[in-house]
Amino acid sequence: MKYFTTTSKASRRAVDCVVVGVYRRGKLGVAASEINTTSKGHISNLIKSGDVSGDAGRVAVLNNVPGVRASRLVVVGLGKSGGLNASSFRKAVATATRAISNTKTKQILNCLTLEPVANCGIYYLARHSVESISDTLYNFDQMKSGRKKAAMPLNTIGFAIAKRGDATKATRGAEHGDGISAGVALAKDLGNLPANVCTPSYLARVAKKLANGNGKLSARALNETEMKKLGMGSLLSVTAGATEPGKLIVMQYKGAGSDKPVVLVGKGVTFDTGGISLKPGAGMDEMKFDMCGAASVIGTMAAVSKMKLPINLTVVVPAVENMPAGNATRPGDIVNSMSGQTIEVLNTDAEGRLILCDALTYSKRFKPAAIIDVATLTGACVVALGHHRCAIYSNNDDLRNEIFASSNSSQDLGWPMPLGEQYAAQLKSNFADMANIGGPGGGSVTAACFLEKFVDDMTWAHLDIAGVAWRSGAQKGASGRPVSLLSEFVLSRAGALP
Ligand code: BES
Ligand code: MN
Ligand code: ZN
Repeated sequence: MKYFTTTSKASRRAVDCVVVGVYRRGKLGVAASEINTTSKGHISNLIKSGDVSGDAGRVAVLNNVPGVRASRLVVVGLGKSGGLNASSFRKAVATATRAISNTKTKQILNCLTLEPVANCGIYYLARHSVESISDTLYNFDQMKSGRKKAAMPLNTIGFAIAKRGDATKATRGAEHGDGISAGVALAKDLGNLPANVCTPSYLARVAKKLANGNGKLSARALNETEMKKLGMGSLLSVTAGATEPGKLIVMQYKGAGSDKPVVLVGKGVTFDTGGISLKPGAGMDEMKFDMCGAASVIGTMAAVSKMKLPINLTVVVPAVENMPAGNATRPGDIVNSMSGQTIEVLNTDAEGRLILCDALTYSKRFKPAAIIDVATLTGACVVALGHHRCAIYSNNDDLRNEIFASSNSSQDLGWPMPLGEQYAAQLKSNFADMANIGGPGGGSVTAACFLEKFVDDMTWAHLDIAGVAWRSGAQKGASGRPVSLLSEFVLSRAGALP
């Protein structure tokens, strides 16, 4: 994608499509106002006739508007005047994009970046625009046979800016949006692929392919024999019943010499049947999305290496299938984790924590500046926070606040959640050092407490993304979250934000 910025009038640019906004009560946005004057009231007439509206969600595609050089003018409703925020801004861009997604538009000039948006400078307006356009145009049809839907041939996105001094920030926002969007799209693809394609070995191949030919990025995968030598009895107990071999994928990006790395650990259960504690059949297909934590950290690595950020980033993905079989782990079995702690597996469906705990212990060797694990860990998290925000846990107040702030500025929202001795006590086992479930009540919290037992002195956070990683129903599909949040966190740590 090519990007440009412009201070010239919206009516003067001969692009395929110009996007402008109008507010309720006939209030015109900056570029809509200019075009309305040039066209001698064309837009205000259409507002009077009801063809154009300032209501959020409304959109009109106008061709051949008098005095406008662009062949298409998209007029999108922005709601109440003065009421735009990052969320409604992104929605307006998405609405405009959807309205032209079946056209042959190659260039878009987005003039919504001239509008005032609460807590959002030109860098974020450009970045949110790119992310929102890419998110809207994403289409997954690689598993369909026959003729595929032709994608809109978009190759250029321009941004209207008020003054030349905004150009650098707008361009940087667009470039970062471009890198993040590539990471989001990769995470969506990996999530959407079925479990018979996206196996642990497939994830390992994707990681190696990303590193191929990139001097700053390396990738390798440990096999089950190597994991056994390391003492990863907990991880291996999950993959015991599976025919597909488990992998521990390690990716290292070196953009900042010998600095301590940020380490991202992603749950990579390529299919979660529950194991012997078998899940009910209805909706079980959605457990192909149980590797969305892995997809999001691999996607973030793709974004960070595309943005060439000056930081060290390590990604660790424990990748397994959780299957029932004659040699599968039984409820009540006791396993030895790499940390030396023993675990009573009271429920084989609480498998995410069993692979993550060994991945966390393994990650200590990287001496992380901060370590964040990302997992579709508990149904309880969906009960607690629904599908809007992921849960943010940390053993460090500053890190928790930092991630919460990144979630707000990226609009990939999370919410801080508690840890604590009272919750951790629910994991008591009569036979081993701990059980892998904490009983009824606070299921997302007790899962986080389980992980905390394996982080020692690392500065650690855990994101439970069970509610946000994919959508169910008619729009079923991976969301690519929380690639934007994680990228924002890394951008901030790399000192790359304005
Ligand atoms: N992958 C699931 C969590 C999940 C369930 C995410 C539904 C999104 C939607 C996880 O492995 C799991 O099965 N967790 C159990 C834990 C329980 C046995 C303590 C759960 O949440 O039911
Ligand atoms: Mn499970
Ligand atoms: Zn799971």
